[in-house]
Amino acid sequence: MKKLALIAMALSMALAAQAGSAADKKAVADDQIGLSKTSVEAVPDPQVFHYRSNAPFSGQVLPRAYQGAPPQVPHEIKDFVPITRESNMCVGCHQQPDMVGKKMKGQPTPLPASHYVDVKTNTLNMGRYTCTQCHTPQATVKPLVDNTFGGKK
Ligand code: HEC
Ligand code: HEC
Repeated sequence: MKKLALIAMALSMALAAQAGSAADKKAVADDQIGLSKTSVEAVPDPQVFHYRSNAPFSGQVLPRAYQGAPPQVPHEIKDFVPITRESNMCVGCHQQPDMVGKKMKGQPTPLPASHYVDVKTNTLNMGRYTCTQCHTPQATVKPLVDNTFGGKK
């Protein structure tokens, strides 16, 4: 009995080893590794896309993904970036402490109170200085991976 069990164990181990080496031989082709369907050696041209071209004051805003989400930038920003220590064009239009919470169509949405250390003294929270860290302009492109997120209903 004991001998039989040992033989069975040896057999199953041998089979497992064989299965392992068969799996090793089945290599993954280099065009099947990532999202790109070309060889990993190839440098494919990036897909061309264009940001929305409307300048500020067109009166357009984009839907919010969910409550509390940073609103997407609805206008062109190419003339307003990069944001540097010396220059931040975004605050030039959006920093209006007297207007917090008072949106007007076609006017720069005032920065919310959360973006200030103190609204009364007009002290911006420097953690919010680089606006494009959270607010991004939008382009119509095919997503690399589809996503079923429904957003705000
Ligand atoms: C010349 C003024 C101006 C500048 C500079 C500007 N904006 Fe705006 N922004 C506007 C106006 C006006 C709107 C309202 C929509 C419209 O009419 O274009 C707006 C809308 C927005 C909104 C949407 C707010 C909402 O209610 O959904 C975001 C976000 C935004 N801007 C971010 C930025 C960022 C980030 C920068 C800098 C890269 C920037 N803006 C620079 C004028 C400006
Ligand atoms: C760390 C992320 C972050 C940074 C940086 C940031 N924001 Fe925001 N912003 C948010 C979030 C989240 C909201 C929505 C929740 C809220 O109102 O606080 C928001 C809301 C807004 C709104 C809409 C206000 C309203 O009343 O609907 C505007 C306009 C805006 N931000 C502009 C800016 C500008 C301009 C800058 C740069 C000076 C900036 N934000 C920097 C995250 C950020």
